[in-house]
This record gives sequence, structure tokens and C-alpha cells, in this order.
Amino acid sequence: MVRRVYIETFGCQMNEVDSARMMALLGKADYRPADSLSDADLVLLNTCSIREKADQKIYSALGHLRRWKRGREGRLVAVGGCLAQQEGPALRERAPHVDIVFGTHSIARLPDLLRLAEGCGAPVSVDLSGDTSHWEVLPYLADGAASAMVTVMQGCDNFCAYCIVPHVRGREISRPSAEIVGEVQELTERGVCEVVLLGQNVNSYGKKEGEIPFPELLRRISRVRGIRRIRFLTSHPRDLDRETIGLFSEIDTLCPHIHLPIQAGSERILASMGRGYTRKEYLGKIRDLRMAMPGIAFSSDFLVGFPGETEEDFQDTLSVMEEVRYDSSFSFRFSPRRGTRAAEMTGSVAPEEASERLHRLQDLQDRHTRERLAACVGKALEVLVEGKSAKDPSRLCGRTPCNKTVNFSPVSSGHAAMRRVEIRSAGHHSLSGEEGRPHG
Ligand code: SAH
Ligand code: SF4
Ligand code: F3S
Repeated sequence: MVRRVYIETFGCQMNEVDSARMMALLGKADYRPADSLSDADLVLLNTCSIREKADQKIYSALGHLRRWKRGREGRLVAVGGCLAQQEGPALRERAPHVDIVFGTHSIARLPDLLRLAEGCGAPVSVDLSGDTSHWEVLPYLADGAASAMVTVMQGCDNFCAYCIVPHVRGREISRPSAEIVGEVQELTERGVCEVVLLGQNVNSYGKKEGEIPFPELLRRISRVRGIRRIRFLTSHPRDLDRETIGLFSEIDTLCPHIHLPIQAGSERILASMGRGYTRKEYLGKIRDLRMAMPGIAFSSDFLVGFPGETEEDFQDTLSVMEEVRYDSSFSFRFSPRRGTRAAEMTGSVAPEEASERLHRLQDLQDRHTRERLAACVGKALEVLVEGKSAKDPSRLCGRTPCNKTVNFSPVSSGHAAMRRVEIRSAGHHSLSGEEGRPHG
């Protein structure tokens, strides 16, 4: 009997690709994607616990699911991902209607856990067992998808003072390179031409396992037939090496964009966060990247209001932004996480003060984003189509090599994934243009 599953994904790209894997696993157990909650038999929340707000969002979603579950006999609720890993059995104390709790190392067990739950069990599986057998499953791919995410590693060994990730994802484990290249080949055979390589710290790929180093992995992937774009994230500024930087001038399918999270610009705060690089070293890598690939786009993450951050420290963050002029960034107010070093630190910044700093930072980023977008106007850029434009379905939406969103009017109704688009204007967060007419 075919049943329907509705998956809601919170958090980062690691969760997105895991959700696509869960979908593929559930497909083998006769589950198909549900269009909405009302026709679902199973709801699966793939959760995040990076900040307190993320936790709250999930508990509130779980609150709504209590009523949904009562709507029809036999409906099931499963909770996976980082919050499930963190809370374990305690999650069910707050939300007794949850049928399955499964952690970040239990993805491959999902079909078994589901059978247990259908038989009236209430399984909880949250051991950080190091199981990576879910990597054997090709993540679910929508028909006609031109871009796909490929896991290269899981977990993190860095233990930055504020961060829950190593606690909920476990230690770093790299995936065998042959398996990664094999997956990329399979994806290109299905029509994918862009891959995004994923890991919390891709630059330390393979070091523990004695695998080929990350730059060599990039070279091998670039040789797969049909690959037209390669991206990777996240790069740790300490581990991004000269060889990888040099690849931006060697591999022409490597997109001219890098996400290089600095978090803060003050030397003192960076040391207290345990990030393992200085501001000077970070800026040195930015300079080397610009030399290897003139015009490369940069994005970053910023964490504002870390314990002990003074106005002067914060000014150092703003000055890094002025110096780099990021194309875009994500910025967050520090949120203490249980079990991390920063949760025990003194010198907490008042929430109003931290919010005010965050606003100032976001205002500056908005100015830089607009400036970087405006610099694209008048250019003809190659756009990888992602789908219809949200505001106007007669137009298409896609991304430039430097990762900017473009809405544009197509000249034909063809299905080509790559289009040459003339950029006519720049908005606050995206570009607008028209597909160039073919010559001749
Ligand atoms: N591996 C990536 C980060 C993954 S988490 C890296 O090393 O950069 C994504 C972002 O969430 C982080 O870059 C950080 O800016 C933010 N973040 C992590 N823990 C946080 C916390 N406790 N409070 C607020 N923001 C946090
Ligand atoms: Fe978290 Fe630091 Fe690991 Fe990134 S590198 S996931 S911020 S511990
Ligand atoms: Fe969140 Fe887990 Fe990603 S905590 S940010 S979903 S690794």
C-alpha cells in the first residue's frame, strides 16, 4: 500500500541532503512525497538545534502536529536530525505524540524504526555510532533537477566555543573518494550539471582516513563528464590551503564564489571562540583568493554578541566587512548552547545591545550586497535555471556562477539548464535580466 510522507527540513544544507536521502529510503518502503500535511500518513521533521530559536520553532511545529495526528487513525510523527540527537528520549517528554526519535547517525535505520512504530513501538535511536551506511543511498532527485548536493564528510572536530554541531553530529568522518566520484557520475547521467560538495569543514577532507586530499578530490570531480559547475561548503578559514586556493585558476568549472565564515573581526574574540586563525591570516587568504580568481565573490557568517564582545571588538567586525566587501552574509546573535564552552563564559552582552549591533551589521551588509549586485548590471552572465520565478511565472529564476539570484525573461520555452542572461537591473537581493538572443 502506498503511503504519503511530508518532510519538513530545518537548518542547514546537511539536513537538506539528509532529507533527500530519507525520502529515497522511504521510497523503497513504498512511501511517496505528500503535497501537503492533509494527505500525509507520516510527517517527518528533520531538525536543527544551532540556536535556541531553532529549538523553539521545532517545538512549536510539534505542537501543531498534535492536532494533525488526531485527524486520522494511524498517522505517525517522526523527528530526526540535530535536535532529536540532542534531546533523545527527553523530546518525547515534551511531545508525547512523537512516534519515532532518530539521531544524526541513525538515518539508515529509518525503515526499521518505521516498522517498529507501525507495530505500536516507540523507538528512540540516538547513538553516535559512526554509522555512515546512509551514504550508499542516492538522495532523492526531483525530475529535471540540474543541481545536486553531494556529501563529502559528516561531523566536525573543531569544537568552536559556541557551537553545538560537534555534539550533535559527532566527530568528522570523510566519505571514500571513489564513492563520491561515483555519485557525481550517477548524477550527471541523470542530467545534473552542478554539484555542491557538502561538509562542516571540507578542507580537512580525508585527513584522518588517509584519503586523497580535498584539492585532489576537486580535480577528480572536475574530470567527470557533464560537470559544468562545482561549488563546495563550508570552508574553514584555518584549513583552506594554498593548493585549494590555486584551483580557482586551474579548474574552470569551479565557481568563482567562496563561503568563508569569519564570525568576528576582533583578534581577542576570534581567540576566545577558538577559531584557530587570526584576522590577519584570514585577510591574507582573501587576498590570495582574489589573486587566483579576480572578481571572486565572498560570503560569510557572523556571530554578534559573543561573551566579552565590546563595542571596540564589534567595530573590528565592521572594519573586516568594509575591507572584504562581502557579496552576502548570514549573521546571528549569539545564543548559548548547553554543553558548549561559551555557555559557561562570563561577560555576556545584553540582548538589546547585541540586537542593536546585529542591525548595524546587517545594514552595512545590505549596502555592500546592493553595491555588489549593481556591479553586475550590463554584463551577460551564464545562469543555471532553478525553476519559475516566484513573483512572475512567465519568467525563470536561476543563479550566476558567483551565486547571485537572477529573475529573467526567457526567449524560448526550451528546457536548457544553462542560459546566457543580460543583466538589466539590480534589486536589494537579486538581479533582473533578459535571456540573450542567440547570434546568427
Ligand atoms: N561549519 C560552519 C558553520 C556551521 S553553523 C563554520 O565553521 O563556519 C552555521 C553558523 O551558525 C555559524 O557559522 C555561526 O555563525 C552560527 N552559529 C553557530 N553556533 C551559534 C550560536 N551558538 N549562536 C549563534 N549563532 C551560531
Ligand atoms: Fe561549528 Fe566550528 Fe565546526 Fe563550524 S567549524 S561546525 S562553527 S564547531
Ligand atoms: Fe542545524 Fe545541525 Fe545544520 S544544528 S545548522 S542542522 S548541522
